[in-house]
Amino acid sequence: MDKFVIKSGPVLNGEVAASGAKNSVLPLMFAALLADGEHIFHNVPKLQDVDSAAQLLESLSCEVKRDGHTLRIKVQKPKSFEAHYDFVRKMRASILCLGPLLTKYGHAVVSLPGGCAIGTRPIDQHLDGFKTLGAEITVESGYVKAEAKKLKGTNVVFDGVTVGGTENILMGAVLADGKTTIENAAKEPEIVDLAEYLIKMGAKIKGAGTSVIEVIGVSTLKPAEHTVIPDRIEAGTLLIAGAITGGHVTVNECNPKHFEALTHKLRESGFDLSATDTSITIKARKEFQAVDVTTAPFPGFATDLQAQFMALMSVASGTSVVTETIFENRFMHVQELVRLNADIVPKTRVAIIRGAPGQLLGAPVMATDLRASACLVLAGLVAKGETTVNRIYHLDRGYENLEVKLSSLGAKVLRAKE
Ligand code: UD1
Repeated sequence: MDKFVIKSGPVLNGEVAASGAKNSVLPLMFAALLADGEHIFHNVPKLQDVDSAAQLLESLSCEVKRDGHTLRIKVQKPKSFEAHYDFVRKMRASILCLGPLLTKYGHAVVSLPGGCAIGTRPIDQHLDGFKTLGAEITVESGYVKAEAKKLKGTNVVFDGVTVGGTENILMGAVLADGKTTIENAAKEPEIVDLAEYLIKMGAKIKGAGTSVIEVIGVSTLKPAEHTVIPDRIEAGTLLIAGAITGGHVTVNECNPKHFEALTHKLRESGFDLSATDTSITIKARKEFQAVDVTTAPFPGFATDLQAQFMALMSVASGTSVVTETIFENRFMHVQELVRLNADIVPKTRVAIIRGAPGQLLGAPVMATDLRASACLVLAGLVAKGETTVNRIYHLDRGYENLEVKLSSLGAKVLRAKE
């Protein structure tokens, strides 16, 4: 297993580019199942999760080839319609093959994902949505079996906002009979990206990016070519890296409109930011104020940036309150930050952070999930002395060469064997 060894000190300066969005490319790869032939995706990040999705597609008779940041997926009728537990337990987004397989072939068998480090994460809303569209759903021996000769368009109303649920039902609806209306849909940029690709494939979709999405089912779709949107969570993480070190950093090849809740909070904290359509620059200060943050579905403050922002708040001047509303167990990073001398009191869904500039001290810490890992790396950039972040495989699921990107800005981050 790999670890990062981080030496604090350098103030980050310079320009760095964001990669393609993990949370966009995964649903796009599963959307390919909807049409036989060759799908081409550009700006595909080199990530463990993309490799996992490729392996699952290969088990469903697809050919997946990578050439740099371009991915070609040749789709044909699968020999089996099953997403085995081995794939789903590695990567929860594997459940997104349910909608495409069910709507195209009339059946799918997908392992239940189980819980994960940040919460129980049920898929009840995906399954209720497919039932509403006329599928028969049974759960046996840890697997979901879904059957429907043809899904029938109707109104699907989600109880709560779910990104994956919206994506799964959207992919199911594009080949259903008649009109489907998805209400209380997620509005994340990744939903819009998926809808844009489906439209290129021939789907009829209106309203993606709003809370009501309308789909008129079509009988067939064709493969297409698409460039994945930039990763707003990675861009935000790199921006916070500039902020926490008191640096001057420009993140290129990103879309600042996709993380305005973060930039709003950074400005409130006292940072200077300037944006173009495709880049954002932060001019940091040695001292900045604590601000409160509450996570919310897009366009609210992303839960995927909560841990990283908490690292920043642990060295702000004053006390901040971070409230997590999306996942019930997303404070696993708190005890690790405390090992770095942060002063944080976690309650059930609220953490109180008593920030103080310069209070973090280097120590060995352990990453527990993807964004918690990023938080610890950011803290390590300013924790006096040396910080070792173990179990970096979590980070490799969702950040392409983070150590290389941070080093290009002047950070001292080395990958080593545990
Ligand atoms: C996606 C993102 C993840 C991000 C999350 C919230 C991908 C691959 N992952 O995850 O990075 O943190 O959105 O922005 O895009 N829920 C239910 N029942 C369901 C589905 C969800 O109760 O059937 C709950 C979840 O447990 C959670 C909340 O709804 O509490 C939001 O989950 P959801 O938006 O579905 O997250 P994911 O799509 O899994």
